[in-house]
Amino acid sequence: MRMSDQQTFLRDAMRRMNLTRDNFSDRIGVRKRALDTWLLPETSGEFRVMPDIVSKFVNEILAGESTKSPLTQSVYIARPDAPLREQISYNGKPQLLSVDQFSRDSLEQLFRVTDIMQPIARRQKVSRILEGAVLANLFFEASTRTRISFGAAFCRLGGSVCDTTGFTFSSMTKGESIYDTSRVISGYVDALVVRHPEQGAVDEFARATNIPVINGGDGPGEHPSQAILDLYTIQREFSRLGKLIDGAHIVMAGDLKYGRTVHSLIKLLALYRGLRFTLIAPPGLEMPAHILDRIARGGHVVEQSTSLAQGLKGADIVYATRIQKERFADEAIEGYTPDFQINQAMIDATCSADTIVMHPLPRDGRPGANDLSTDLNHDPRLAIFRQTDNGIPVRMAIFATLLGVENQVQHSMRDVSWRSPHHVGPDDAVFDGLD
Ligand code: NCD
Repeated sequence: MRMSDQQTFLRDAMRRMNLTRDNFSDRIGVRKRALDTWLLPETSGEFRVMPDIVSKFVNEILAGESTKSPLTQSVYIARPDAPLREQISYNGKPQLLSVDQFSRDSLEQLFRVTDIMQPIARRQKVSRILEGAVLANLFFEASTRTRISFGAAFCRLGGSVCDTTGFTFSSMTKGESIYDTSRVISGYVDALVVRHPEQGAVDEFARATNIPVINGGDGPGEHPSQAILDLYTIQREFSRLGKLIDGAHIVMAGDLKYGRTVHSLIKLLALYRGLRFTLIAPPGLEMPAHILDRIARGGHVVEQSTSLAQGLKGADIVYATRIQKERFADEAIEGYTPDFQINQAMIDATCSADTIVMHPLPRDGRPGANDLSTDLNHDPRLAIFRQTDNGIPVRMAIFATLLGVENQVQHSMRDVSWRSPHHVGPDDAVFDGLD
């Protein structure tokens, strides 16, 4: 086994067996410390190569588990034969419009592809697997990270990117229909990422073409790639902390009515079992009823609150969101005072040492803003930059899957020839060896 395959192999085995690191090391009869060293990046001084006998033993366990009872089978291998892009297709096309396209199994297959992408995202390896392919990023609404990270992910696989931003410089200001725009651009490029202020508009783009279309956010509708990277982040954080997503307590706070990231994330989380959701929103900005019904039908517990101090207690994940003022129809934000801010004092008073604080970003960092405070920036519980970092391998995995090259990536990798830092940000060293 190549060294970079070792991490991917072990992570995938833990996911398929639905075991935490502690339980997995017990199951395969090795010390947790040894397992940790096998999971480290190769560049870490403490990285160790896993003995062959261990991989043989893990493979034997996985093969045995796959023949167990139907109940466990859905958690273990039970892979449908169809390529992943067919399993998640939208109206028979390789397009990503909604998280509803995923089952727990197909999501975990995508996470396996994401793990494979990590050495490229971390700038240890390069790949040209999408050489010659061109992506159009059509963003008709403000964006920084989504547009750049989709573009960077495509480039890191060897493709090229064309961007357009806003309506001002688009022919849509001349009355061009979505159908025409989509069909025309599809003649120029091999994939489209579209963000649009109206719910349903990205679907219209997708219907007018057969090339891969990815929803980069459609008004207050959905934002599937953000939810996938959020869930991938949760899974990695929980793996480090020895927790499982099944049974977790997830708190979502802020504008739950217009926040498309939380709409997609809560539906994805509902694929897991026995979750407890606490939804904290100011009056008038609660989670839409149709989403609440669906979560409740999945057997999860949903509590709603307007108080941060009450709702945050016992949270495994605190997912904060920005107030989407630009989408307000006739809502007022009275009652949404600065004491709604999630800051260091609030987290210290209500949460434990292993609570994880997340946000899709951007956050309003101005003093007194009703958002996630910047005073948590050096707190290791703040996972917002680990989320943004994970956006690259997740989006690479989405492109590779939709364009049908996900099984060739591993063999296409070469070592990088330039020098880059091991840790991108000043606080990342805290997690050296833990991810
Ligand atoms: C979000 C969005 O655009 O939906 N940002 C993002 O893509 N990460 C959240 C927001 O704008 O508040």
